Amino acid sequence: MNIHQQKILILDFGSQYTQLIARRIREAGVYCEIHHWSCPQSDFEAFAPMGVILSGSPESANLTDSPQVPDYILHSKLPILGICYGMQTLAEQLGGKVEGSHSSEFGYARIEVLGVDSLLSGLGHEVVENDHHYQDVWMSHGDKVTRLPPGFVCTAATDSAPLAAMMSSDGRIHALQFHPEVTHTKAGQQLLNRFVHEICGCERLWTPANIIEDAIATVRKQVGNDQVLLGLSGGVDSSVVAALLHRAIGDQLTCVFVDNGLLRLKEGDQVMEIFANNMGVKVIRANAEEAFLGKLAGISDPEAKRKVIGNTFIDIFDEEATKLGTVKWLAQGTIYPDVIESAASKHGTAHVIKSHHNVGGLPADMKMALVEPLRELFKDEVRRIGVALGLPAPMVNRHPFPGPGLGVRILGEVKKEYCDVLRRADAIFIEELHRHGWYDKVSQAFAVFVPVKSVGVVGDARRYAWVIALRAVETIDFMTARWAHLPYELLETVSNRIINEIREVSRVSYDISSKPPATIEWE
Ligand code: XMP
Repeated sequence: MNIHQQKILILDFGSQYTQLIARRIREAGVYCEIHHWSCPQSDFEAFAPMGVILSGSPESANLTDSPQVPDYILHSKLPILGICYGMQTLAEQLGGKVEGSHSSEFGYARIEVLGVDSLLSGLGHEVVENDHHYQDVWMSHGDKVTRLPPGFVCTAATDSAPLAAMMSSDGRIHALQFHPEVTHTKAGQQLLNRFVHEICGCERLWTPANIIEDAIATVRKQVGNDQVLLGLSGGVDSSVVAALLHRAIGDQLTCVFVDNGLLRLKEGDQVMEIFANNMGVKVIRANAEEAFLGKLAGISDPEAKRKVIGNTFIDIFDEEATKLGTVKWLAQGTIYPDVIESAASKHGTAHVIKSHHNVGGLPADMKMALVEPLRELFKDEVRRIGVALGLPAPMVNRHPFPGPGLGVRILGEVKKEYCDVLRRADAIFIEELHRHGWYDKVSQAFAVFVPVKSVGVVGDARRYAWVIALRAVETIDFMTARWAHLPYELLETVSNRIINEIREVSRVSYDISSKPPATIEWE
């Protein structure tokens, strides 16, 4: 079985939701890739999709230099689904009309489904009133289609967008002004399922079990009997690579785990317990706390700290790798969003907010070929296969943790004393989030060490000690984030526990800054 055979192409016009469309298609059990809207015909033919989805865009479709769907796609025989800008550019390119409106429509809308097409009719989640059928959807647009192209029928309407969806009379081209990919559109997943399964004819081949089987076969073929080296960090991606490669090639895999002293409470021991003790993976643990803290002494500039941490990591990893003799392959936990981001930077469309995120990556001059078994996967898919490979769910569902670790959560100079206090405070916060059922509701949560002393009274005694800040955010893409509205009782419990249990802390504060303008990490 070739799980890549039946697939969908997503043409990206620059919408913030493009990756979300791809994730929904994968959830429908169908492989898909995102390509830039200017995708050359040869790439398209080599990819050979069974259907095409056009994303939204911040652009306007009715300008002379607006991005367009290539003619060879428009005139192919494939089913096409245009979403938002995708609908508008279809309308413009095929002879209809798009106009800007004075007000943009953003948020929930109720569309009336006109019952004339195979995509929207009878999807479930419908509200029926006086024989009219409605769906709750999510709108986010300024421009809208004001005249259908010849040969198209209107399939849904709202008061503010009378042409809210359309279909070509042969049923090949469908287009929606709303966003089926966001969860606010109640029947969004059903709609996308219908498009890929019924209209494009793709089967549900993209499942965790099939992905694992395919990845194992690919890795075995790629590396043969060679040895493979992996830098294991304890993060989700490298952990899943370790579990996958261990399943594929067993003892040919050696992991190097660099304990930099900037990890969360007991993290190093947990990594060893899971991989070395339980799964029998060969893991070399380099205890390098002293080396890292030694190099960080006296350095307080955030960027300089990141560089020191990154370079020290490379030196230590290199040292351990050299001890193993010649190893031909280096495994990495690159995932699909990294691939998309680096492709976008070639097109000049990447959203680079912090360019230093790869600091802590591996030596550029290591002459090893790469094994990247997660290259096609989104984070949620990586998590699902992690669980299917037997990794503990709490590890696989952990919030992201930055490469430089606590190094960017201790403001200014990093000292062991600060790391120890921060680790304990962070563990209390995370434990209480779990206990109150909030851990999975926030995207990332952690404590920050603020090296400022503040006065407090604990019992009868005056305490002059450090400040801990708590940070919890909700985000889809980590590019923008909202501070999480945690319940006061939860914050109160965390604050009391931290101050009572950690003598070195006299005050706890909660960070209520959103991103932008603040970033998620404090440094
Ligand atoms: P910021 O602070 O830029 O964080 O809003 C966005 C996401 O990126 C993570 N982050 C990093 N990850 N190396 C990493 O591997 C870094 O230097 C780094 N800085 C931030 C951060 O934890 C959040 O998830």
